[in-house]
Amino acid sequence: MISPVVCFPKPVAGFPPEWTDSTWNLRSLSHVPYSSRNGFRFSRRTRGRRILMCSDSSSHSWNVPVLSTNEVVERLKLAREGQEEFMAMYSSVVNGITTDPAAMVLPLDDHMVHRGHGVFDTAMIINGYLYELDQHLDRILRSASMAKIQPPFDRETIKKILIQTVSVSGCKDGSLRYWLSSGPGDFLLSPSKCLGSALYAIVIQKDFTVTTTGVKVVTSSVPIKPPEFATVKSVNYLPNALSQMEADDKGAYAGIWVDNDGFVAEGPNMNVAFVVNGGKELVMPRFDNVLSGCTAKRTLTLAEELVSKGMLESVKVMDVTVEDGKKADEMMLLGSGVLVLPVVQWDEEFIGDGKEGPVAKALLDLLLEDMSSGPPSVRVPVPY
Ligand SMILES: Cc1ncc(COP(=O)(O)O)c(C=O)c1O
Repeated sequence: MISPVVCFPKPVAGFPPEWTDSTWNLRSLSHVPYSSRNGFRFSRRTRGRRILMCSDSSSHSWNVPVLSTNEVVERLKLAREGQEEFMAMYSSVVNGITTDPAAMVLPLDDHMVHRGHGVFDTAMIINGYLYELDQHLDRILRSASMAKIQPPFDRETIKKILIQTVSVSGCKDGSLRYWLSSGPGDFLLSPSKCLGSALYAIVIQKDFTVTTTGVKVVTSSVPIKPPEFATVKSVNYLPNALSQMEADDKGAYAGIWVDNDGFVAEGPNMNVAFVVNGGKELVMPRFDNVLSGCTAKRTLTLAEELVSKGMLESVKVMDVTVEDGKKADEMMLLGSGVLVLPVVQWDEEFIGDGKEGPVAKALLDLLLEDMSSGPPSVRVPVPY
């Protein structure tokens, strides 16, 4: 089983130098006896997490303890102490739900873990309702089909399991995350010998804070995923993570991918939209080469209200060049994590007058209203 605990000594900022010494690597362990149960202690908390560490500062006397199942469980419990936000997990491997964060583990031989052969999705839990669960479920099943993963259950069963997991968690505000994997079985490349596909889900308690202050974005230098992969919400988010790290390094909120034809694509976990033509037209890049965002799609529908009120003249999905994007009256990021977030600067260029625009604000208001009191098609009640 994969332990969430950092068991091997690895360089950790703020720890004594002898624990971050470069001799602390797997090769240096190979000549060290492997039997002692001594030499471990639990560290102080690091960012709220307890890290399991060696108490012996000499790299030559490192002994990895051999643990009984009970000892492993004990250490997992200690390591997860204080992580009350992990409310419940479902795993088809055990076909059950646990509310103990220490038991929220995955098999290491799951192909999603060692080959990235898995897809995932989310849904926000808002005041006891799952927002756009059906739309996210449609997308994970589409992703699973593109990844050639035959889900372990039919759609209705998956939906019931997810709702029950949220119900057991008691969580009223937070997020539900779930994965479909080709499953555990071996460490080969082909999943042909897997024991069967797997479903995992976790409920994370979280208070939503809505950000309305405009942000800066930068053009991502990390290569964009080809459309065949960008349109699947697979667990292969290495480019996305690197793009986010690049943005962080540059003091920006996110990196924006531009496709090979010079058209605006998406951010690492969000779509983008622009307001052009004197603030009268909402335009969104086509979804052919990017992830079909549930928030972006819902925003397209909600934006029709702004057309009927005369705030907008039209809403279009079309190719947007970088040049047109940077000259737009407004730019915004759209996604479950950011909702509708105004962008006021892209690279060195200010967007519009460099301030948050009225259309982004109006769309955010519509989305928030939809999340709290939208129709049953977007709000699934959780029976607690
Ligand atoms: C690459 C990418 N694009 C866009 C989105 C936005 O999708 P959604 O609105 O469904 O959250 C996400 C969400 O995680 C994403 O990972």
